[in-house]
Amino acid sequence: MNQQLIDAQGRHFPYLRLSLTDVCNFSCTYCLPDGYQCSSPTPHLTVDEIKNLVTAFAELGTWKIRLTGGEPTVRKDFVEVLDVISSISGIRQIAMTTNGYKLKERIKTWVDHGLTNLNVSVDSLDPRLFHSLTGHNRLPQILEGIDYALTLPLKKIKLNAVLLKNINSHLFEQYTAMLKNKKISMRFIELMQTGDNLEYFNKYHVSSGALKSFLHQNGWTEKLREPGAGPAIEFVHPQYQGSFGIIAPYSKDFCNSCNRLRVSSTGDFHLCLFGEQGFSVRHLLEHKSQKEELKQTLCQILGKKRKQHFLHDGNTGGTPHLASVGG
Ligand code: 5AD
Ligand code: SF4
Repeated sequence: MNQQLIDAQGRHFPYLRLSLTDVCNFSCTYCLPDGYQCSSPTPHLTVDEIKNLVTAFAELGTWKIRLTGGEPTVRKDFVEVLDVISSISGIRQIAMTTNGYKLKERIKTWVDHGLTNLNVSVDSLDPRLFHSLTGHNRLPQILEGIDYALTLPLKKIKLNAVLLKNINSHLFEQYTAMLKNKKISMRFIELMQTGDNLEYFNKYHVSSGALKSFLHQNGWTEKLREPGAGPAIEFVHPQYQGSFGIIAPYSKDFCNSCNRLRVSSTGDFHLCLFGEQGFSVRHLLEHKSQKEELKQTLCQILGKKRKQHFLHDGNTGGTPHLASVGG
């Protein structure tokens, strides 16, 4: 049988999140409150290294790649990365997570070069609040970019908001109007503790319980989880084209449906967002002749993946902020 990525709990990993850079031009209060600080002198993976990496993953059964960061589009060769990945046999979906900067100007090119799924961070629909949360007064342009993206042949468009106590955790109503006629999935993510944000976390973390009650009271129903779906819970409504999603990493059993692995922008293989420091595989990305050794190494490392994260114990692993390993 072909070698496949399957861990000791029997979980499969069709999905790789690949960080293209840890640089970001936004300064979201929960992630990089002081903006990007140049900490890593290690250069990001080259397009050739990315090609060798993704080819190995694809041969091990991965068919979906998400490009993340930092902000992946700050890379000047972003379109080249799309070209290379979309030419790899077995890759059926290329998704990206972006802060939406320059979305309107560039989304058409990205779709033309193979992008299939889009996630945009929109922590608030109020322009002033958006500005104070991200450091950029660009909400109207970003929303225009999303409207334009809706006209393009993308499989799915998702918006992400990190749920923040008393900041956006009581403003769900605002989102429903947007979802009426737009085929968008609006996902709220519970704030996660990272190495850098303990004080912020204690102040703003709130569970998604209030959002669930709001949705139940307003006629939204929980969709049955499809096999192979990730850890988000989706809510749908007969009168709305869009849907709501909840990502609750602190909920019981969150890790059971884990279907993703991560590689950082410098070639560290991470088994969990909050797992460990990562295992460098960069020395195996130089030549395509190293592919078999790379595949074997990836499978061996996967053998160390643990059943669940230890966030409940305040153990954030080696992750200072999510820009470092991809949100
Ligand atoms: N908790 C939850 N989500 C986070 N993100 C970044 N930092 C955190 C955190 N501490 C997510 C945001 C953003 C994506 C890039 O990463 O949803 O949209
Ligand atoms: Fe940048 Fe995303 Fe972090 Fe915001 S959450 S600072 S957009 S990496």
